[in-house]
Amino acid sequence: MASRKANMDFTNFDQRQYPTVTPKVGYAEWANTYEASGRTGSWLAAKGVSQIDGVDFTPEMLTQAGMRKVYRRLQEASVENTGLPGATYDLLIMSLADEHLARLEPTYLEASRLSSDNAKFVVVGMHPFMFLTGMPTHFNDQQGLPKAIETHIHLFSDHFAAATTGGWRLREAVEGLIDDRWFEVKPKWKPLRGTPVNYGYVWARKL
Ligand SMILES: C[S@@+](CC[C@H](N)C(=O)[O-])C[C@H]1O[C@@H](n2cnc3c(N)ncnc32)[C@H](O)[C@@H]1O
Repeated sequence: MASRKANMDFTNFDQRQYPTVTPKVGYAEWANTYEASGRTGSWLAAKGVSQIDGVDFTPEMLTQAGMRKVYRRLQEASVENTGLPGATYDLLIMSLADEHLARLEPTYLEASRLSSDNAKFVVVGMHPFMFLTGMPTHFNDQQGLPKAIETHIHLFSDHFAAATTGGWRLREAVEGLIDDRWFEVKPKWKPLRGTPVNYGYVWARKL
């Protein structure tokens, strides 16, 4: 009998069959046109947060983020082992990276190590139901051809188990649906109206 992990392997659902590359290779190529790298830092700075450190293991994405001039420090490292100082951060945010992690537990544990006593950890990503429609994370390469980036599907229960192991408590969870606003940028998604497309979980050290 196939394991739960094998049953949730994205290749079981893949409807696109694009050539697939690793995250580091894919984002190195995508970085020039991705445009959004560092947006979380910019948003925080606009809200008045003055000390912001960023982590990504693709140097090209960090270069793009650095151009925003809002980061105190940009660290080339995995979210699973950032090298940043422990017991330091009041707020941790991981945006659109969990789909590239084979396992969630190391990241939630690393976030616990980094966090101050009252910290919150906000995890934002593409909704697993969206990947079940058969679309991987993908981009157009320099020849204009689509390439997929290795995609892992994590259900909410996977996040819950990993976060709980890391001592996190769920404070808030939201799920976005495909609606008219999405059709303005993705008209081809009309048949997917109502599909959960993204999520945000707020984890706290203490409730
Ligand atoms: C979709 S982009 C999101 C970039 C940015 N966080 C944002 O929200 O715009 C995914 C990013 O996750 C990074 N990434 C994927 N796996 C990672 C890992 N294990 N450690 C650090 N960064 C990772 C990739 O290099 C890429 O820059």
